[in-house]
Amino acid sequence: MTGIPPELGARIAGARRILVLTGAGMSAESGIPTFRGNEGAWRHFDPEQLASPEGFARDPKLVWEWYAERRGKVLAARPHAGHQALVQLESNTAGFLLLTQNVDGLHQVAGNQSVAEIHGSIHRSKCTRTGRIYTAAELPIEPPFPLRTPTGDLARPDVVWFGETIRMDAYGRVEEFLAAGFLDLVLIVGTTGLFPYIQRWAMTARQGGAHLVEINPEPSILAQFCDVVLEQPASQALPALVGG
Ligand code: OAD
Repeated sequence: MTGIPPELGARIAGARRILVLTGAGMSAESGIPTFRGNEGAWRHFDPEQLASPEGFARDPKLVWEWYAERRGKVLAARPHAGHQALVQLESNTAGFLLLTQNVDGLHQVAGNQSVAEIHGSIHRSKCTRTGRIYTAAELPIEPPFPLRTPTGDLARPDVVWFGETIRMDAYGRVEEFLAAGFLDLVLIVGTTGLFPYIQRWAMTARQGGAHLVEINPEPSILAQFCDVVLEQPASQALPALVGG
């Protein structure tokens, strides 16, 4: 299905509680490469080399340099019309939670308030000894690398790496949101949906009666469970959905 069904706009306008799940495709049109597409970020390097505790232990300077370069691109990126539509959706909806797998912070730059980051944030660092989190204002992410905390301990990017546990605070927020009452709608935007928790949340919401909508030019494995699949880029589909 490529058009936006008229009843979907009405459903969104009347929705009281909405969960939005976003992935790398949400940021693609802001110029941030996805992970698994043809231009995906993983294509140019071995993920285990840079995005794993082992890779960091091997060469913390290299890992920091890669993350600092990626953060530079993120800081230069601007939210697109799809991000803005999600800000409008949040202000229109009494109960709203946006769970993102992205670490770029673009939803917050756009103005969304209720955002849970399940894979951490490229804008923060974490002390490898104490686990203390530092914002970029507290510990600027700039050379010399590897970054060290004011106490001289080795810091690392506050992102989830291969083999690590997702952010349980973000996980808990989604669980609570799902348990708190009837969900009208789940919007799944720009993710391959490979992670089991994304699949489980979509299925739980569906079993509870929520309407599932996927926005992805290449429908994911979740598409088969969705009521509506919009095979369009996020920058087109979201403004059309929220405005229409
Ligand atoms: P992927 O790179 O796996 O998938 C990106 C998805 O976005 C694909 O389904 C594309 O078809 C879709 N897409 C591309 N352009 C789009 C657009 N303009 N509008 C809408 N959709 C578009 O990214 P994720 O599913 O987010 O985890 O990957 C999940 C996780 O895998 C990442 O957070 C990362 C990675 O391992 C960690 O780093 C822990």
